[in-house]
Amino acid sequence: MNDRTRSSGRDADAADEGLPAQTPAVPTLGDVIALRLGRREMLMGSLAVTAIGAAGGLLSWVAPAAGAAASRFKFREIAHGVDETHHVAPGHDARILIRWGDPVVSGAPPFDPMNQSAAAQSQQFGYNNDYIGYLGLPFGSANTARGVLCVNHEYTSEEVMFPSGDFYGRGDLDSATRERVDVEMAAHGTSVLEVQRDETGWRVVGDGDLNRRITALATEFELSGPAAGDARVRTLADPSGLRVIGTINNCAGGMTPWGTYLSCEENFHTYFWGTLAEDHPEHANYKRYGLGKPGYAWGRFHDRFDINKEPNEANRFGWIVEIDPLDPASTPRKRTALGRFKHEGAETIVNTDGRVVIYSGDDQRFEYLYRFVSDGIFDAADRAANMDLLDRGTLSVARFLDDGRIEWLPLVHGENGLTAENGFASQADVLIETRRAADVLGATPMDRPEDVEADPASGKVFVLLTNNSKREPEQTDAANPRAENRFGHIIEIAPAGGNHAATGGTWEILVLCGDPAKPEVGARWNAATSENGWFASPDNCAVDPQGRLWVATDQGSSWAKTGTADGVWGLETEGELRGTGKMFFRVPIGAEMCGPQFTADGRTLFVAVQHPATDGTEDYPGFERKSTFEDPATRWPDFKDDMPPRPSVVVITKNDGGMVGE
Ligand code: FEO
Ligand code: CA
Ligand code: CA
Ligand code: CA
Repeated sequence: MNDRTRSSGRDADAADEGLPAQTPAVPTLGDVIALRLGRREMLMGSLAVTAIGAAGGLLSWVAPAAGAAASRFKFREIAHGVDETHHVAPGHDARILIRWGDPVVSGAPPFDPMNQSAAAQSQQFGYNNDYIGYLGLPFGSANTARGVLCVNHEYTSEEVMFPSGDFYGRGDLDSATRERVDVEMAAHGTSVLEVQRDETGWRVVGDGDLNRRITALATEFELSGPAAGDARVRTLADPSGLRVIGTINNCAGGMTPWGTYLSCEENFHTYFWGTLAEDHPEHANYKRYGLGKPGYAWGRFHDRFDINKEPNEANRFGWIVEIDPLDPASTPRKRTALGRFKHEGAETIVNTDGRVVIYSGDDQRFEYLYRFVSDGIFDAADRAANMDLLDRGTLSVARFLDDGRIEWLPLVHGENGLTAENGFASQADVLIETRRAADVLGATPMDRPEDVEADPASGKVFVLLTNNSKREPEQTDAANPRAENRFGHIIEIAPAGGNHAATGGTWEILVLCGDPAKPEVGARWNAATSENGWFASPDNCAVDPQGRLWVATDQGSSWAKTGTADGVWGLETEGELRGTGKMFFRVPIGAEMCGPQFTADGRTLFVAVQHPATDGTEDYPGFERKSTFEDPATRWPDFKDDMPPRPSVVVITKNDGGMVGE
């Protein structure tokens, strides 16, 4: 990054101590009103008089005496900072549950970083754990001490994964070997693990019958829904257009009420080699999704990842995948009814009328927010009856109006310009080119939509928008109000009448993120009333059983601008403290925070520490270079000279056995 304004020291011992309260920058009245009341009311003008009349009260709310309002998060906040290890709020225990390379499938070989093989990796925990889902066992039991954990493996970080002699970087695809490529492909996908808590804590059940690895290398998927079997998804290897090998770039996801696991294919474009001629029918489609800059060498050895050999293969990725974790022999399905884009997550909520609603962001600058509503009704008494609910329904895209309303625009073939004249001959075309269909409907380009999660109690929907440094001043709107939005924001949607299938609703901004003390780097007042207060780049989230919102961040390499590694924050959503955050957990240098997932009793929080030692290590004081396998910025979590850094799932519990965050 160009703007290296600040770095934190390596102060591991002090990191768990609270920092002194910062003196916040004084916000403008406009900032305060916009944050407290939401941009919606300001723009509607209906509350202008009220807002001005209440200004004194608002300002006194912004900077109350410490402790003036009771936080719903009783834990003592940890300090911002960056060092080689993780930190959790006092009174909590954070321990490693499973690391990259640990055995998943019964009989898997022990991890040997100097002798990796695709065969071993296919039985071991994959790389870059992201989404985590938990399902109590047996199904329907709400068991919070024994369950199945579903974990995504988003991508691989070769620079710290393989010895340098064997390393090929993202810019050196030519020196890749077949075996190295196959290890990478086996390290992608997902893991399904049985886990159990006993008197010594949580552990993976090593011989669990449900333990399974799903990989990009070998697992067969079935395409289902309106685009299945379409001519545009048929290949030489699969003339039926129904069978796909592998899933890639599985970012976030969701668990369904019928006990399946949704895993989202996000940045699928970077895996494909080749370019199509400009007059090729898929040229514009692939350009819209960013193909043409391969980051992996897979296409050298696997024809399906070379679009010159298999021009339709890239239409078979970018979907939401549904996996039955209770049947290790089941064939996972790519649910085409939910659209093809760079899916971040897929959180499900059962609507008041019993239909299933899934919100999903398309994580790229200026892309859109989507919602799927099933035709069918969820049947809580018959698991099997729900297994194809996601094949039939309506996918819509969001338009955020400046007056605070939201409209859901249905992506239905034959309607509103989604016609043959515009290149959509069928619903399959609409779904394969979801982005272009959404363009036609006039959806609102957002600042990178990441996780979207509904609070089942309030019905509110939280939309996390990571950042968008490319937004120009003339491109701002009420829902994306900051040009050069480096630190992101969170929008809260209230569906009309609490109906998640309604065509409309209202929205307001919950928080604009960033450090209020550093407006020069684009931040705004974040209503900092806690010791550290602010955070940046919200990515994943979870709503705990008490209805409290927890936010995980992904700043990429820009942590040096904020002075803190990524982590989990408790974020107030109601009352006087609404919009304020407290840092609960912090990742080691170079890592990203993913996958917060609570058990239903709120006593266990699983988190995923992704790509330790990679991002922004050039800015890490005392290190100041890129990490390599031999010389990483941290060897978390093993801290052994012969072990590279390893992405890991961490399990957090309260020392007194109480609710996490109390
Ligand atoms: Fe894979 Fe959008 O984070
Ligand atoms: Ca993410
Ligand atoms: Ca989530
Ligand atoms: Ca991320």
